[in-house]
Parts: sequence; structure tokens; C-alpha cells
Amino acid sequence: MSLKLAVSFAKSHAAAEGLAILLTTSGADMPAGATEADPAGVYARAAKSGKFTGKSLSTLDIVAPHGTPLDRLVILGLGKGDSLSAHDWLKAGGVATAAVKGADTVTVYVDVPGLQVSPKAVADFALGMLLRAYKFDTYKTKKKPEDEEDKAEKTVKVTIVTAEASAAKKAFAETEAVADGVILARNLVNEPANVLGPLEFAAKAKELEKLGVEVETLTEKEMKKLGMGALLGVAQGSVRPPRLVVMQWKGGKSKDKPIAFVGKGVVFDTGGISIKPAGGMEDMKGDMGGAAAVAGLMHVLAARKAKVNAIGILGLVENMPDGNAQRPGDIVTSMSGQTIEVINTDAEGRLVLCDALWYCNDRFQPTFMINLATLTGAIGVALGSVHAGLFSNDDELSERLLAAGLSTNERLWRMPLGKDYDKLIDSKFADMKNTGGRQAGSITAAQFLKRFVKDTPWAHLDIASTAMGSPNDEINQSWGSGYGVRLLDELVRAHYES
Ligand code: BES
Ligand code: MN
Ligand code: ZN
Repeated sequence: MSLKLAVSFAKSHAAAEGLAILLTTSGADMPAGATEADPAGVYARAAKSGKFTGKSLSTLDIVAPHGTPLDRLVILGLGKGDSLSAHDWLKAGGVATAAVKGADTVTVYVDVPGLQVSPKAVADFALGMLLRAYKFDTYKTKKKPEDEEDKAEKTVKVTIVTAEASAAKKAFAETEAVADGVILARNLVNEPANVLGPLEFAAKAKELEKLGVEVETLTEKEMKKLGMGALLGVAQGSVRPPRLVVMQWKGGKSKDKPIAFVGKGVVFDTGGISIKPAGGMEDMKGDMGGAAAVAGLMHVLAARKAKVNAIGILGLVENMPDGNAQRPGDIVTSMSGQTIEVINTDAEGRLVLCDALWYCNDRFQPTFMINLATLTGAIGVALGSVHAGLFSNDDELSERLLAAGLSTNERLWRMPLGKDYDKLIDSKFADMKNTGGRQAGSITAAQFLKRFVKDTPWAHLDIASTAMGSPNDEINQSWGSGYGVRLLDELVRAHYES
């Protein structure tokens, strides 16, 4: 189980028990909350003895501090404290959660003397706490000793002490929505494919109706009628039928055009007849990371009642080898009418997305479309897990996405598109082929998608190396990272709410 944190806010908390966490900067003489939680001046002695300098994200853990009812006192450093970014506060919150260990009552003092700590910063700190607390161990029947405490489903009471408690609480209502959306995306990515097939994923999306999202689910029959031959070609090798989920959040004015997000939801990617090698294939349970991020984002927008009209579309299929699977050389007709020669059945994501994008554009004429997809292994070769790949036909949308990436630290790097790449996917037999050869694999995949968006401002985020398996950090210790949810929520918040 994840550590369960029940977060509340207070102006002061003189009789703190259990664990107290005091924030400080390297310049401060005293940490936040010193008079309440450290009357005996333990911190001053530790600092004087040179044991603690307040370095960014460093901690000093003091057991049973003299002269207080506390079991433990943890001092958490913020470094110099000048120009702390939202992400710095998130990381500090993550480190605070790591310090909780077995405590069941935690009081965090955040008002560092001499530092301007805004309610938004406090809410970001709390968001970092929640994100770090997440753990996916649903299928572990034998818990490790350090997990004994959570086995009892214990909830840790966290009180954050700050002068602007009520403003912080209000800001936290929004960041808590963000935490829930990120955690939804992480859960979906971590869940194995035998448990999460297209139908089960669609059912999860349907649960967003509770938050006021309108959710439709298109069946195979309906997709056939629409002519989605590319998506259906991928699905035909699986005994589990595909679904196309269409979510609508109507938080904006009714006359406002919607913005749209489209996710690749391949619940498992064996490669199909162009089967993948066995080593590491288990990771392909995460090939629905794009759809997971879109579902997570829709959760956030609805939960925080964002003033925007937003569409979320999920293309849910399983890519399997089978007597009925599609073959290399097969030619399929997409909903757009364009024909595609399937050179490699493992380049299936673009086949799913091309019909989902076309459908989205055709039905909703959105202000923009952003698709997220674990599309190519090549994006990790180019960018590692540090940046996701950004491909776009629109400079303004790109600039906005890049900026949102910097402020959330879900970073993007813009990659090129162009005619010379586009011609690499011309086909001898059809309008295009689904792979472009060995070179520029991530770019030719993007060129393929671009053929299905007309003039609508569009961005494709290749999240193959960021949605899962990236190194653990202060705010994520899970294989599925939930990448994209915070990024896109920030984009919406900064530019698209009325
Ligand atoms: N789902 C994979 C891409 C992927 C690879 C995601 C590793 C996450 C980790 C995608 O469907 C795929 O198989 N792409 C091929 C494309 C190739 C056949 C042109 C790839 O990247 O090798
Ligand atoms: Mn594939
Ligand atoms: Zn795939």
C-alpha cells in the first residue's frame, strides 16, 4: 500500500507530538516553527557543531529531542532559499514524506524565518508529499518489515503549519486533484495487462463520470462503421476487442471550442507478427502510458473544475500475434480514407493514433490536439529519460508546452519535422507505409501522425522513455511515472482557462 497521508493546515500547533519536520534555509538562524517544536534549541546546536548546514534537500534526523514531547525532529534544508521554483517545493515535499518512516502523526512547519513562503508553494510542497507517498504493491502478499505499519491501512495525520493556513488549504484543493490524476495514471501504467485490457481500461475511464466527465465508449462495430481500418487492423490479432473512449469535460463556456488530448492505449504490445524479442517485453504492459496520462489529466481537470472545455480520447487495443493477426504487407484503409501499407506490425501505435486523431479532429474541430504516446524506442536513444520528444506543426503551442515542461520539470525537447523526413514513409503500394526504415525512427513516426491532423495546431509527445522505467527521484519511486499529467494541467492552467 501507498503511505496514506491525510493533510490538513493550521496556523500553529504548539503541542505537536510524534514527528515534527522543520524547514530551513542555509542562511536562516532558526528553522521554521523553532519556538513551537524546538524550544530547547537542538537545531542551533546541531548547526553550530557543523553537523547541518541546510543544504538543499538534506535532512537532519534527531531522535527524542530533549525538552519536547516529540519522538523525532527532522530538519529539512532548502539550500539558499532564493528563487525556489514550484519544482523545488515539490521535491522538498517528497523528501519530507521519505522522512516520515513509521510516524503516524506529523507536523510540518514551513514558514522559514526570512523566506517568503506563498500558499501556492505550501500546496506544491504538499503535492510533493502525496506523490512521494505512492507505491504500487497491490500484488505483494508478503510485505517487508518496514511496510508492516501500512498493512494496517493506517493513515498518517499530516498537519502543515503556516501563517496563511486557509489560503494554503484552498490552493491544496487544486494540487490534491493533481496528485489524484498523477496517481491514476501511475496505477494504470503499473497494472499488468492480464488485469487491464481494453475493456477494463474503458471501465476505469467510465469512473470519471463521478466527477462530471461525459464518457462514451465506441465498440468495434461502431469503429468499423466509422472506417477505422488502421486501429482495427492492430486489434484483430487479440481475443480482447478494442475500444475507443471519448471523454468530455465541459468546464468552459458552451460556445468555446474545446482543446483535445489523444492517448495511445496499447494495453500490451508484443509487436504482433513482427514479434519483439523476449528480453524486456514485460515492459510493454506500459504501452498505454499515453492513454493513462490523458485519463489522469481529465481526472485533474474535472476534480479541480477547470474552466475549460476539454476532450480526451483513448485508443485502446492489444497488439498480439495470432492466426487472425495482420501481416507485414497488409494494406489497411484509415478513417481519413488514406491507405497504409503495414511494413512492420510492431509500429502499431501510429496506426491506432491516426484513426483516433482523425476522429477527434473531424468530430470536435478542437483548438488544438495533443497526442501522447509511448511511440518509439528511438526517442530514448535520442533523449534518454530526461526529456520527452515534442513534435509539432505549431510554434505557439510548442513554446507553451516547452514552458510548461520547464515549470513542472516534465521536460520536453522539440524535434524536427519536414518534407525530407516525410518522404521516407512514402509506399510503393499504398499512400504511405507505417515505418520509415532505420534512420530517424521517432521523426518518421511523427511524420506519419502529421498526415492525419490537417491544419489543426497539433503536438505529438513521444513519452516512451519518460512514462515508465525512468530513474526514481524525490517525487516518484514507481515504475509508472504518470508523466504528462502535471505538464498538461500546467499548460491548460497557464493558457486555456476562461
Ligand atoms: N511500444 C513501442 C515503443 C516502445 C519501445 C515503448 C520501448 C517503450 C519502450 C512501439 O510500438 C514500437 O514497437 N516501436 C518500434 C517502431 C519500429 C518497429 C519502427 C520501435 O521503437 O522499435
Ligand atoms: Mn510496437
Ligand atoms: Zn507500441
